[in-house]
Amino acid sequence: MDRILIRGGNRLAGRLPISGAKNAALTLMPAALLTDQPLTLRNLPRLADVDGFGHLLNQLGASTAVEGTSPAAFGRTVTIRAGDLTSTEAPYDIVRKMRASILVLGPVLARAGSARVSLPGGCAIGNRPIDLHLKALEAIGAELEMAAGYVEARAPSGRLSGGKYRFPVVSVGATENVVMAAATARGTSCIENAAREPEIVDLCRCLVAMGARIEGIGTDRLEIEGVDALRAATYSVMPDRIEAGSYACAAAITGGDLTLTGVDAEDMGATLAALTEAGVVVEPVADGQGGGVRVTAAGPLRPLTLSTAPYPGFATDMQAQFMAMLTLADGASVLTETIFENRYMHVPELARMGADITVSGRTAVVRGVAGLTGAPVMATDLRASMSLILAGLAAEGETSVARVYHLDRGYERLEEKLSAVGADIERVSDG
Ligand code: EPZ
Repeated sequence: MDRILIRGGNRLAGRLPISGAKNAALTLMPAALLTDQPLTLRNLPRLADVDGFGHLLNQLGASTAVEGTSPAAFGRTVTIRAGDLTSTEAPYDIVRKMRASILVLGPVLARAGSARVSLPGGCAIGNRPIDLHLKALEAIGAELEMAAGYVEARAPSGRLSGGKYRFPVVSVGATENVVMAAATARGTSCIENAAREPEIVDLCRCLVAMGARIEGIGTDRLEIEGVDALRAATYSVMPDRIEAGSYACAAAITGGDLTLTGVDAEDMGATLAALTEAGVVVEPVADGQGGGVRVTAAGPLRPLTLSTAPYPGFATDMQAQFMAMLTLADGASVLTETIFENRYMHVPELARMGADITVSGRTAVVRGVAGLTGAPVMATDLRASMSLILAGLAAEGETSVARVYHLDRGYERLEEKLSAVGADIERVSDG
């Protein structure tokens, strides 16, 4: 199994390219199932989860053709074509490895009139039920049953009717599932208290490029007028605001100066505002090469009080990275995790490196320390593993991060990107 070794203390500086967004890719790929025409996705990140989703699409009968790109390039172009669905089932074996597989439920149901999808089960960061996915799909006409660990879904008379649903709490995945399913429903659907994440805007824009009719994109009220069929399209996956936010924390924690290229500062509002509050200098850059964000450390980090929230609030997917950064702040910070009930698995690992953190319920108090020390640590989930990498970049001595397969799910060629801006980092394999 691979580990990542970091010898900390180097100040990071230079330009770092941001890849396409994992959480946009994982909802754009199933959208291809809604039509028998090809969907070409550009800037698709090379990540384990994206490969896993490709296998699931193949299993359903869709082809996935990768356009030749140089291996050195970040991202790639893939054309997905679901000419015919040869299966309408997402089996347990695939879904248990990648919960985002649940995002085929809406598209397969809309396309084939029926679908059978394994329940995803629990996850390291929380129970993560799918009840809202099911309620929203029922509201637009689906008939659902649970049997043997699977959701069995049917569209009476072979096509969803459309309908109205108000989410009791904001859910990214459930919003994505119902928006995709409603795109080809017989009637119009109205979704209220919908999630507003940029990845959902990306999905809606791609669906519109395929011929869908969606009003209210970017707001919490979406009106989707179903169309009879969607058409071929070519769409470029948005940049990954969470990857960019993670590297922005790398600049801050190492006293560095990074220009993150290819990312839109607009999508990173709450993250950049929090960095600024911590005393980091943040500037959007328009450099004719797709723009980006320059992040420069400017003296001691100031402590923060932060609560995670749905977009445009502070992202739960940035909580662990900020915690790592704030272990070195000049004072005590208070973090509250409101989205997932078990998203502090990184705390004991950071403590092994000398961090001073106390957790009580959903709140963590992080008292800044003078320095961290390298140690062997264990990754537990995607963002927790990034927080350990960040701590390792700042720590004195060597840090060894085990179970890096978590990282490969969401960070494209992390060691390459970090060593190009001055980090002393390498991946080793223990066979
Ligand atoms: C998406 O997960 C992201 N994953 C997550 O990113 C992210 O943390 C999350 O949104 C919140 O921003 C992908 O896009 C693939 P939710 P999702 O439905 O859709 C509860 C990462 O690190 N809920 O918005 O699963 C749920 O338990 C990952 O990249 C229900 O109760 O998140 C949670 O407490 C981790 N019933 C809250 O809502 C439901 O049916 C928000 O979950 C659905 C959700």
